[in-house]
Amino acid sequence: MNSPHLKLLDTLRQRRDGWLSADQLSGKLRFAPVQLRAAIRLLTDRGYEIEAHPQLGYRLIAEPERLIAKDLAPQHPIAGIGSRVLLEEVTESTMDSAWELATRGAPHGTTIFAEDQTRGRGRLGRTWTASPGRSLLFSVVLRPKDGSASPHLIVTAAAVALAKVVRRTANLPAQIEWPNDIILDGKKTGGLLLETRPALSPEVWILGVGLNVNQTLADFPPELVPSATSLRIAAGRPLDRTALAGAALDELGGWYEAFERKDLHLIESAWTELSYTLGRTVKIAEGETTYTGRVLGLSPLEGLLVQLTKGGLKTFPPERASLRLESD
Ligand code: BTN
Repeated sequence: MNSPHLKLLDTLRQRRDGWLSADQLSGKLRFAPVQLRAAIRLLTDRGYEIEAHPQLGYRLIAEPERLIAKDLAPQHPIAGIGSRVLLEEVTESTMDSAWELATRGAPHGTTIFAEDQTRGRGRLGRTWTASPGRSLLFSVVLRPKDGSASPHLIVTAAAVALAKVVRRTANLPAQIEWPNDIILDGKKTGGLLLETRPALSPEVWILGVGLNVNQTLADFPPELVPSATSLRIAAGRPLDRTALAGAALDELGGWYEAFERKDLHLIESAWTELSYTLGRTVKIAEGETTYTGRVLGLSPLEGLLVQLTKGGLKTFPPERASLRLESD
């Protein structure tokens, strides 16, 4: 967060209900008066409501509900993630937008966000619904350097990144439900989707991330209320989606580095620490067959290792398996 206006925003947020004089702000931020005025103008141009008083100074009244394109891109992209960031108001699916960018040669790490999707998709042909302007919905173009790299490994690494960023920025105990869900209070708050097109050479993958951030209960369709939640519901307060998005790209970058180093141990142990699934009894549908068993562990390359109730061990690769937790 090196940009002057973001530093100013941070300071104003810390004093949300009070005033800060121009002298206080200039002193605290080490801004010349002209720099301070420019930073204030930039924030107001971007939809922040800042009240100005000749004696009292400034105070932040309201923040825009929208993502701010310029603030989404990391200053120093890690492992190239977020090297180029685009924002669409509405698209069918950021997955399609990212594929289009990739086929036109977009570099590794190019990321496209949308405020709304009309045909958002999830795993196994499911749809992903999200009320406009309340989620993080984005897709990242990945061009793995190693042509033999494992897509499972990147999904596991990305799930770790997403759970960690929720923990760090919202201070909420996010967990990972294998293979790709982010869980809070036993309900789904985020999901990851990796799409590959094996015919493409060199290899390109698109990683999609959907995170419910500022939805209230009323924003979810009634059928999703028992199983879905948002960071806002869990935290009891709205969150700054732009800041969260920046932090998510940084975290993803860090875990993409671990993926590129093939640091299986680091990824597996982080997953184990954050797992919602480990040790639980599950029902797993694979094709037409449903298995029951207790989850023993995860191989980030091969899948979930389950001790079957009817005897024997079985590894379930994520691409075909659909998991349901049983109450123990
Ligand atoms: C799942 O849980 O099944 C994965 C959900 C992934 C949803 C995200 S939202 C952004 C990106 N665009 C999509 O259409 N899907 C992914």
